[in-house]
Amino acid sequence: MSNDKKFTPKIIGMICNWCCYGGADLCGVSRFQYPPYIRLIRIMCSGRVDLQNVLQAFANGADGMFIGGCHLDDCHYITHGNYDALSMVHIAKKLLAHIGINPNRLRLEWVSAGEGIRFANIMNEYGAEIMGLGPLGKGEGIDLDEMKFKLDAVSKLVPYIRLVERERLRIPTKKEEKYEAFYNGEEFDRLFNELILDKLAISEITSLLRVGPLSTGEISEKLSMSPSEVAKHMIDSSRYGLVRYDPGQNSYALA
Ligand code: FES
Repeated sequence: MSNDKKFTPKIIGMICNWCCYGGADLCGVSRFQYPPYIRLIRIMCSGRVDLQNVLQAFANGADGMFIGGCHLDDCHYITHGNYDALSMVHIAKKLLAHIGINPNRLRLEWVSAGEGIRFANIMNEYGAEIMGLGPLGKGEGIDLDEMKFKLDAVSKLVPYIRLVERERLRIPTKKEEKYEAFYNGEEFDRLFNELILDKLAISEITSLLRVGPLSTGEISEKLSMSPSEVAKHMIDSSRYGLVRYDPGQNSYALA
């Protein structure tokens, strides 16, 4: 994909007003160069970027999304918003990887208002990385409709993921090393698989059934899941009252 000469990436950058935006401003005033295809949006704190914003950016065709905040422990709000951003980005990257999108398309960095050159260096390096990855979907070798379907299934789960993140996928200590250790550790993997992946599979199945009834075999083929996995999710979904089985048609439909 890197040799696609006509490819100009679409990159969205959401950067906090108090630090990273200042860094971007200084970068401009100092006449440091960075790629023109990175579109910046000023927000008040990196912690205000929601998982839904990330999914929406990719669903709308962004090839990359950048989030920039104050250095950790320098956030201007007592809620330490940049730790919220750190946590959200770890979860978002895991979700993107699960649905086949390269997680490096999402980037989180800390830049202070005095670091104009750092901002330029990060933008140049990140722009080159996205250029190398190629257009979203095509770079991954996945069909665009399939990718949008999967992004949509994750989007439907966002309120649940927010709740799970707050209740189970957070650590109480605001320390960078502790956050990194937790989000790169086995415990996080286990909780993510246990709390999110099953729900995501059910969300994908119900999205399919919204179009019409399907048999276990058809669901299995469309979602590249084993029939036993589909059967397990159908049992759970029936128990939650989400789907019903029609023995005459040997198919499932939304309840
Ligand atoms: Fe900059 Fe919170 S104010 S990250």
